[in-house]
Amino acid sequence: MAAPMAVIRAGVAFILAAGAIGARSQLRMGYYDEVCPAAERIVGDYVRQHVGRVPTVAAALLRLHYHDCFVRGCDASILLNSTGGGGAAEKDAPPSMTLRGFDFIDRVKGLVEEACPGVVSCADVLALAARDAVATIGGPAWRVPTGRRDGTVSSMQEALAEIPSPTMSFPELAALFAAKGLAARDLVWLSGAHTIGIAHCSSFADRLYGNAGAGSNGNGTDPPPLDAAYAANLRERKCRTAGDAAVEMDPGSHLTFDLGYYRAVLKHRGLLRSDAALITDAAARADIAGLVGSPQEVFFQVFARSMARLSMVQVKTGSEGEIRRNCAVVNSH
Ligand code: HEM
Ligand SMILES: *[C@@H]1O[C@H](CO)[C@@H](O)[C@H](O)[C@H]1NC(C)=O
Ligand SMILES: *[C@@H]1O[C@H](CO)[C@@H](O)[C@H](O)[C@H]1NC(C)=O
Repeated sequence: MAAPMAVIRAGVAFILAAGAIGARSQLRMGYYDEVCPAAERIVGDYVRQHVGRVPTVAAALLRLHYHDCFVRGCDASILLNSTGGGGAAEKDAPPSMTLRGFDFIDRVKGLVEEACPGVVSCADVLALAARDAVATIGGPAWRVPTGRRDGTVSSMQEALAEIPSPTMSFPELAALFAAKGLAARDLVWLSGAHTIGIAHCSSFADRLYGNAGAGSNGNGTDPPPLDAAYAANLRERKCRTAGDAAVEMDPGSHLTFDLGYYRAVLKHRGLLRSDAALITDAAARADIAGLVGSPQEVFFQVFARSMARLSMVQVKTGSEGEIRRNCAVVNSH
């Protein structure tokens, strides 16, 4: 294996070790090669064309895939509408309110259905679209074996319990990642996704206003406060406007996958409390310092490996679940 970066700095030697942990899965590369040979090309072509024009979509698709995988595994449960009878769906949970990209996935799925009706799952369409979108904006590329099946259940309560909240401490975040079979290092690397996209002021308001220690958990795991000058600037400008304004999480390069997010976190300019929480853990802080001091390619490698793991969390395969025809509703049997 050619990994010239890994020998550059002893501090990043862990990167090779991280690759040795293989996720158990019955997914495989090119699963659709025989049953729908055009599938991956249809997704890729559509994504490249549209994300090329509207690059902010890449962040939306990446986040949608992550939220999907964190509840009932990567089974497109995030795409299901509430049904009225069966209770509210994940989509209607508070942490999902700012998710974007549902229409985009519906359009891609529509094209794939035209080519091969009932063959390609919504979960795979989402996983592939997220990968292709990040690649389109010049970000890391990860392998996406396919064969995921779509779930038939989506629960708002589960989303509330299992999607990490931006006010959580490092131990709380790490515990929710561990519940998905992901290590603390996956938390550190995957948080690097915040190098693209936006957050609304309401998502970090506790760090801008009022009572010092708002949201303090009182047990020594509070992250450092937001850099005072940066906080004042947000209070007086972006977040002062009526409504809930959106702020770039990596200001200046929020459309580019780069090390800007980690640099910001080290300078106490990580927007969310959960971003700041990363440097309350000594090992995580050292890992971030290691990344910032290394070629960007090292970040791309570790991010890609963690993404590959995320995209295989609790996947349904074989005869589990179904291949949904419309991503917003379960098939009627
Ligand atoms: C560690 C726990 C995490 C927390 C607490 C968290 C929380 C958040 C919050 C609060 C926002 C802003 C939502 C808004 O106000 O509009 C956000 C945005 C985003 N998150 Fe995370 N996140 C986490 C991990 C991840 C992971 C693992 C990924 C993907 C691998 C990810 C990808 C994104 C992206 C791309 C955006 C920007 C979305 C957009 O531009 O619409 N996040 N996250
Ligand atoms: C799902 O919900 C969205 C938003 O409420 C709506 O626009 C869409 O038509 C619904 N889809 C189906 C198939 O019911
Ligand atoms: C810290 O306190 C919060 C809130 O009381 C709790 O949820 C969390 O588990 C505690 N963390 C640790 C590491 O004890």
